[in-house]
Amino acid sequence: MLYGLNNFFKKILPKRLFYRSLLIVAAPIILLQIIITVVFFDSLWIKANKGMTRSLVNEVKTLFEIYNDNKNNKEEILDIYNKNFDFVVRVKENQIFPSEIPERWYSPMDRSLRRELKSVFGESYWFDTITYKEKVDLRIKYKNGILQISFPKHKIAPSSARIFALWITLPGFLLIFIAIVFLKNQTRPIVNLAKVAEKFGKGEFVKEFKPSGAKEIRQATYEFERMRKRISIHLNQRSEMLSGISHDLRTPLTRLKLQLALLKQQDLAKKMGDDIEEMERMLNEYLEFSRHQKTEETEMTDLNIFVEDILKKYEGKNIKINLEENSKINIRPNSIKRCLVNLLDNALSYGEKVEVITKKTVNNLLILIDDNGPGIPENEYQNVMKPFYRIDKSRGQNKSGVGLGLSIANDIIRSHGGNISLEKSPMNGLRVKVSLPF
Ligand SMILES: Nc1ncnc2c1ncn2[C@@H]1O[C@H](COP(=O)(O)OP(=O)(O)OP(=O)(O)O)[C@@H](O)[C@H]1O
Ligand SMILES: [Mg+2]
Repeated sequence: MLYGLNNFFKKILPKRLFYRSLLIVAAPIILLQIIITVVFFDSLWIKANKGMTRSLVNEVKTLFEIYNDNKNNKEEILDIYNKNFDFVVRVKENQIFPSEIPERWYSPMDRSLRRELKSVFGESYWFDTITYKEKVDLRIKYKNGILQISFPKHKIAPSSARIFALWITLPGFLLIFIAIVFLKNQTRPIVNLAKVAEKFGKGEFVKEFKPSGAKEIRQATYEFERMRKRISIHLNQRSEMLSGISHDLRTPLTRLKLQLALLKQQDLAKKMGDDIEEMERMLNEYLEFSRHQKTEETEMTDLNIFVEDILKKYEGKNIKINLEENSKINIRPNSIKRCLVNLLDNALSYGEKVEVITKKTVNNLLILIDDNGPGIPENEYQNVMKPFYRIDKSRGQNKSGVGLGLSIANDIIRSHGGNISLEKSPMNGLRVKVSLPF
């Protein structure tokens, strides 16, 4: 029960920090206004209205009695009333008394008027507060005619209600407006920090940004910047060292190849030459990868057009395309292209039929590459992602591979903040699922 209530509140309450803080500020203000308004209406407005209505009805009663008792000076009495009060009094003889009262049941003014009139005149009264904006039309049964009195509404309704409403709502709006301005300034640095952290996670280029806002937020920003720099330096060092080694190894390899050519046992030299060539391929592959990875900038790219463009090169191959959603995404195009080419090459060299599917989920864009090859046993899913790991050595297929394709693809997708997972495809081969956050 409590858990359900908790969940309900979680669902209806705003998710964003700005709106949550605004609610914390605005809710008490609105609540206070409601309470003050209710108290004002109940204790001040309604009581004043009752008192005023009662005295008005008494005035009318006095007029009615004097008019009734006095035999001769009837006209004079009406004149005095018209002159001294805000009344317009008329006597209409031989008039039919209206039966229905056009009153508003929800109006407190009508309610107290009805109550007071009833206690004095019983059922022989009629009034109309609707037809005229500022006046009330009151009629009392008098012999075979009516006594019609018209008086201004402010005689029975305290006019302060509108001014009160203005005074209570205007400062409320003003306070909420000030809160919005201040809260916007307070939440902006947090939103910026979250955006930068997200960008960094996706491997996008992040400009250095200045800490701003409250002390704690500045501190978090400052620490984030330091962490980001440390990670960048670490990554750079790693790839620079690896490409340095790879580069330097090429010279001794070339020397070895030359020396092999001079070797007398040519069958042995041939075998060793093959191995050296494989080593060179590995090094070249790695060097090319690290060169691209470092320099490329992200670009907004339409993924479907991008995928179609890559697939043009595979014309004549058995590739089915199933592109569902048209979505733009921020990627390093050459790196992603390299990744997809690696995956497509794998699919085509291990299977014959290939299907490429793109899909969109709530946070991610998915690219599925299915084939009808032999697939990969589940216990090898993790291993094949490792550099230079190949299952084919035992299978004896695809001799040209060095075992870097999948790990490079994985590295590229990781650096975009996404991930690659392997599954069994509906065609019984391998399904490579690339998901990229957008
Ligand atoms: N679509 C696939 N179907 C079956 N096995 C696969 C598939 N893709 C990859 N593999 C297995 O995973 C291993 C690693 O793949 P990876 O692409 O990293 O290397 P490779 O293709 O052998 O060499 P290269 O570096 O030239 O791509 C491969 O040796 C292969 O055994
Ligand atoms: Mg490969």
